[in-house]
Amino acid sequence: MKRILSGMQPTSQLHLGNYLGALKNWVAFQEQADTQCLYCVVDLHAITVDYSPKQLANSTREIAAAYIAAGIDPKKSTLFVQSHVPEHSQLMWLLATMAQMGKLERMTQFKDKAGKNKERAGLGLFAYPVLMAADILIYKATHVPVGEDQKQHLELTRDLASTFNTRYDVDFFPQPDPVITGPAPRVMSLRDGSRKMSKSDDSDMTRINLTDTPDLIAKKIKKAKTDSDPLPDNLKGLEGRAEAMNLVTLYAALSDIKKEDVIKKFAGQQFGKFKPALIDVAVEHLTPITERMNELMDNPDQIDRFLVEGANNARTIANENLRQVQKIMGFFI
Ligand code: TRP
Repeated sequence: MKRILSGMQPTSQLHLGNYLGALKNWVAFQEQADTQCLYCVVDLHAITVDYSPKQLANSTREIAAAYIAAGIDPKKSTLFVQSHVPEHSQLMWLLATMAQMGKLERMTQFKDKAGKNKERAGLGLFAYPVLMAADILIYKATHVPVGEDQKQHLELTRDLASTFNTRYDVDFFPQPDPVITGPAPRVMSLRDGSRKMSKSDDSDMTRINLTDTPDLIAKKIKKAKTDSDPLPDNLKGLEGRAEAMNLVTLYAALSDIKKEDVIKKFAGQQFGKFKPALIDVAVEHLTPITERMNELMDNPDQIDRFLVEGANNARTIANENLRQVQKIMGFFI
């Protein structure tokens, strides 16, 4: 039995990169036999950086709406909010006693986020990967779909799992495997083919949000950076042309065909021809998601009901596993 766990932060709007790189795969996992899926909105992680307390609850609900709009079915997958399952934080403390400072100091995401002012970074930002490990291990998840940038955190999770097992001489936590798959694991910025499409980029023109209107999608793709050469007749011809490659990748991922087939279809054509075709597939694919998301957000009670049910299901597993961990560690329970 496979158990999948993943999560996204409610920091801001989801974009096409999140959808193609993550959500689309999450949806596919829930259709696999012998696979149980748990998907959460990691609000406790979101407060490790500056955030707006006024917006946190609504952003959390919005990410849950995006999950559902993208095709995650709350009847098939356990969909919940991280902070609704307090066992995550409880396990985090236990794991924190086993996490080495030296290893945490080597986490590149901490270094990036703390920036020059490391002395002032909060303990929560430093301990972020330990909470992520707790998210995964509290369910004894076996597979964790994540982006490239989270691989180091997964390594730490595996490390903590084996430290626990060795220290207490048990075979309790499985080693969770990262799953980095999908037609477009790396969707790049529309303005710079060497940077990841990111919700934290200052310019909104670098990304396509799941809430963008068709007009806005068209505008962003029209203005996307390209070069002046026509599309080549084979994939090799895209080497060294990061922006062109990104648009071909997007077309392939959105229409579920191979990049080779996109090239075959558009060989020799200019971007002036290719871009309108890309706009069509992007709008066709994203409009139903946007509409569903708006519908859900107009009806927050329904989302909230799904989330209460999801948290109850998640807690049943989390609570049982936490009790076992406490027992193994020798607590008076
Ligand atoms: N750190 C992850 C990210 O920024 C989010 C996350 C938190 C996560 N807990 C998780 C992802 C557990 C997978 C599993 O993308």
